[in-house]
Amino acid sequence: IYANTRRNAESFNYGSSKALLALRNELDRFEQKTWHATPLISGERHQGTESTAIYCPHDIEKQIGILDTATPDQIKQAFTDAYRSWPEWRDSPVSERAGVLTRYANLLEENRVELIQLCMHEAGKTLRDAIDEIREAIDFCHYYAAQAVSQLNSRELISVTGESNELQLKGRGVFLCISPWNFPLAIFTGQIAAALVTGNTVLAKPSSKTSLIAYRATELWLEAGLPASALQLLPYSGAELSDLLLKDYRLAGVVFTGSSATASDLFATLAQRLGAPLPVMIAETGGLNAMIADSTALPEQIVKDVVRSAFASAGQRCSALRVLYLQEEIADAVTEKLIGATQELKLGNPHRFDVDVGPIIDQPAMDELHQHIELARSQGRLLYELPVGTEHDPGYFVPPTILRLHTMDELAGETFGPILHIVRFPAERLMQVVEEINRSGYGLTLGIHSRNSQTIHHIVDIAQVGNIYVNRDQIGAVVGSQPFGGMNLSGTGPKAGGPHYLQRFVQEKTITQNS
Ligand code: SER
Repeated sequence: IYANTRRNAESFNYGSSKALLALRNELDRFEQKTWHATPLISGERHQGTESTAIYCPHDIEKQIGILDTATPDQIKQAFTDAYRSWPEWRDSPVSERAGVLTRYANLLEENRVELIQLCMHEAGKTLRDAIDEIREAIDFCHYYAAQAVSQLNSRELISVTGESNELQLKGRGVFLCISPWNFPLAIFTGQIAAALVTGNTVLAKPSSKTSLIAYRATELWLEAGLPASALQLLPYSGAELSDLLLKDYRLAGVVFTGSSATASDLFATLAQRLGAPLPVMIAETGGLNAMIADSTALPEQIVKDVVRSAFASAGQRCSALRVLYLQEEIADAVTEKLIGATQELKLGNPHRFDVDVGPIIDQPAMDELHQHIELARSQGRLLYELPVGTEHDPGYFVPPTILRLHTMDELAGETFGPILHIVRFPAERLMQVVEEINRSGYGLTLGIHSRNSQTIHHIVDIAQVGNIYVNRDQIGAVVGSQPFGGMNLSGTGPKAGGPHYLQRFVQEKTITQNS
C-alpha cells in the first residue's frame, strides 16, 4: 500500500526570488570548497595510484578537486571485504536494509546545497537539473525501500496436505555497479540502493568524470548506518582493472548504465568466465530517440516539448530527442517556430540561474559534436545554430543546433549533445517512419504528437521502444510513475524505478518441508 501512496520528493519554488536568493547565498558557502575523492574501502580512505586534478566543464581553469584512482591491490581487498560481509547483510531483516535507504535519502535532503553545488561544478548541471538530480536520487531510495518491504519477505505457497512450501528471495552476492556521469547522483544512487536493499553488497565504480559527487554520496551512505564493508567505492579506469573484477568468480551481478558499445564489451568479458557462474547483467544503454509529429498536432505544443526534449541538460540524457519527424504539411511552420524558440535559449555557465543550456562534459565529447555539426554545415544541412556570444565562459560549450536529415538511417549512432535532426515525411509514409525508427536497433524513448487516437494507438503498438510519451516532452521519467529503460540495443531491462527492478537482484529459494 505504501508503494502506491508514497509521494515523490518536493520540487523547488523557482518562481520565488526570495527562495532563489537564499539558495544563492547558501551555494556561495561552497564556492571555494574543493573535494578529494579516493577509493573508500570498508569505510577507510585509501591513497590511490594516480591523482588527477578535476576542473569544471564550464570553466576549465577552475579546479574543484582531486581524484585518486584505485590500485589492483585495493580492488582485491575491496572485493574480499564485500564478499565476506555479504552473508550477514543478506540475512539482515529487509526492514533494516530499507531503513538505511530512508536515512540516506534524508541525508541527501539535508546536504542538498552541497550536492547541488557539486552537480553544477563537476557535471555542469543547471540549477533545475541539479535539483531534479537530487530529487530523483531520493525518490529511488524511498521507492526501492517500499518495494523491498512489500516484495521480499518470504512467502508461504499453496501446500498439499502434510507439506509446507515457502519461497525465499535473497541477495545474490557481490554486485558491481558501474554508473555514468550524466546522472552522477541519481543513477549512482539508484543502482546501489537496489542492490543493497535486496541483500547484496556493492562495489561501486562511478564515472571518472564525476567521482567527487560519488565520493560525497558514499560518505552519506556510511553516515546513514550502512555497514562499511557493504559498499566499496572504487574509482578506477582501464580494461585491466575492470577485468580483475569481471573475471572474479565471486561476482554475482553487474548493473551498468552507459553506452551500448561498453555494454557489449562487458558481456564479452563475462562470457570468458569459463567454469564460473555467469553473473546477472542489467544494462541500461544508449538511444537514438525520435519524436513523430503529424499534421493534427498543436504546433506550439510540439515546439515547447521538442525544445525541452532535445536541449535540456545540453542533450546529455540518454532519453533526449535526436530526430524529429515532421509531417510535410506542418514542417515549415513548426521548423520556423522551433528556430524562434531555440533563439531564446541561454547557453553558458550553469551557476547563473537563468542559463538553460550548460556545458558538454569534456573536450573529446565536445569535439565529436562540433565535427558532426561541421559535416552537416559543409553538406548544407544546417538549419540553425544558436550564436555563441563573444563573452562566453572558458568551457566546453556546444550551442543548441538544428540539422536537416533525409532519413534516420543516415545517423551512425547517438549524438550525445544539444543537436536536433529534422526529417520531413509525407502522410502516407507514417508507418514506414515507425519501421525506420525500429530499424535503428535502439529503443529507448519515443515522442508522439498527434490528436488522432488511431494513429497514436497504431504507433504505440508497433514501436519497439521502452518509454513512449504522447503529446508531451520525452525526458525526465519519474520514479514509480514512468519506469525507465529501453529495448534491444537500448538495454536489457528490467526498468529502473519500476515494480520489477528489484526481482533481478535476488535469487529464489523454494523450501518444501514434509511434516
Ligand atoms: N531517466 C532519465 C530521463 O528520463 C534518463 O536519461 O530523462
